[in-house]
Order: sequence, then structure tokens, then C-alpha cells
Amino acid sequence: MQVIILDTPEQVAEKSAQWVTELIEQKPAAVLGLATGSTPISLYQLLVEQYRQGVLSFANVTTFNLDEYHNIAAENLQSYRTFMQKHLFEHVDIAVSRTFLPTCSAEQNPRLQGEEYEQLIKAKGGIDLQILGIGANGHIGFNEPTSSLASRTRIKTLTKQTLADNSRLFTQDEVQPTMAMTMGIATILEANHVLLMATGENKASAVKQMITGPLNAMCPASALQLHQHAVIIIDKAAASELTEQDYFLWADKEQRKVTDDHGLLTVC
Ligand code: F6R
Repeated sequence: MQVIILDTPEQVAEKSAQWVTELIEQKPAAVLGLATGSTPISLYQLLVEQYRQGVLSFANVTTFNLDEYHNIAAENLQSYRTFMQKHLFEHVDIAVSRTFLPTCSAEQNPRLQGEEYEQLIKAKGGIDLQILGIGANGHIGFNEPTSSLASRTRIKTLTKQTLADNSRLFTQDEVQPTMAMTMGIATILEANHVLLMATGENKASAVKQMITGPLNAMCPASALQLHQHAVIIIDKAAASELTEQDYFLWADKEQRKVTDDHGLLTVC
């Protein structure tokens, strides 16, 4: 695990954007795993800016989102499809037909839909780089605490904490879904690289458990300890409970001696 601690959330977004652009430069037909939530919004803004400046193209990129609410219409303002359209897809040159989310309507069988999503990821050659956020309870995707570390794309019931954390995003008139389809932990671990972004003090405890806690289904993000190429990019607030902060800051400096700042994908 490579842990990069930066001063501000803006720097976290900039560093993460560097990773994504480097990947697309190296591999224009890259397969990206995407996350929703507040944390990656600034990353998507930077990617859109780079597209507008003509330095980045998504024309050959394929994307797979981590999760989608169960039985939600794509055009619903709360769907993750709408989120992705609004924050990234509508603003860049990606064809909607190359963007995938793990959808499941009430009429569909979640088990079959999950399997189909897994097959589709495989058929596209697997995920090159998976972007992740982390829940205050340590979830990645919607793999809530107690999720099997061997889990695959499936339906999950959200915890009360996740529902409370996300309730800020719903108006009083909107129904907050309680179930979602999500890539499993094993699905995430199969990505060639994973990049987890976390900012803010409310993530500090989950970040500590993910990096230095035991590998534990109660902190699904701790499974990333098993990943060969995982980079954790966090701000100081999210790192505030890490007792190993000094080591990570020093290791990051040392690492730069053996790779240029853009050689990120070849490090870890
Ligand atoms: C969303 C997702 C979730 C979020 C997590 C953090 O697609 O996968 O795991 O990354 O809930 O959300 P924010 O960034 O809103 O704190």
C-alpha cells in the first residue's frame, strides 16, 4: 500500500487526476472503475478541465461504476447514472454506450444482474484503475461492514449509518433507497490498480482501520491491504488518526527519488 498524505482536499484531487491522466495517456482504451459520492467530484472537475483544454480524451475509454441504487430509473435525479452524467460523462467525449453501472430493476434478478456485470467487466479486459472513496464506516463501494472479502457484484442492504450519512443528499420529498447493487470486494481487488481518495476528519477513523487495522470484514476497506497496487491519497485531516504519518510522509519523499512524480502507476 502506498499512502500519500497531502495538505488539502484540492491536492488530493490534483494528485488523483494525475494518476487518471497518466493511465489514459499510456493506454487510451483504458478501463476505468468509477465512484460516486462527494469525494471524487473535484477529481472529475479536473478531468473535465483537461478534456476542455484538449489534453485528455475519453473517446476510447470504458467505465464501470462501483454501484447503483436498486430499482432506480436512470433519469431519477438521485441515480448514480445521473450523478455520473452530471459530473463527468456529459462534459467529455465518452460515448454513453461505453459507460456501465450495475443496474437492477424490480423485475430483474439481482443475482443474475450481478453475474452479468462481472462478465461484462471481464469481457472488456478487466479494470485498469479503480477509483474509490471510503465510507465513515469503512465501506468501499456499498460493501458495508460484515461484507464477505470474497464478495462479487450483488445486492446489499445499506447500514443505518450509511443511510444517515447520505441522507444529506436527499430532499424531504425524495425516497432514499435502502438497497444497492455494488461490485464486491473481490471484484474491486481484481482491478490492476486501485486509488482510494479520502478527505476530512470524519474519515480519519476509517482510514486508520483501513491502513493499519487488522484485515477485517468490519472494515471492508482493509481488504485493500491485500492489493498489490493500492494507492491511498488522503488529506491531513483524513490522516489525523494515523500514528504512522511521519513514516508515510518520509516514504513518499524517498519514493520520489526513484521515480519521477508522474511515474505513479509503476510505483507501489
Ligand atoms: C459511491 C461509493 C461509496 C463512497 C463513500 C464515500 O460510489 O462507492 O463507497 O465512495 O460512501 O462517500 P463520500 O465521498 O460522499 O464521502
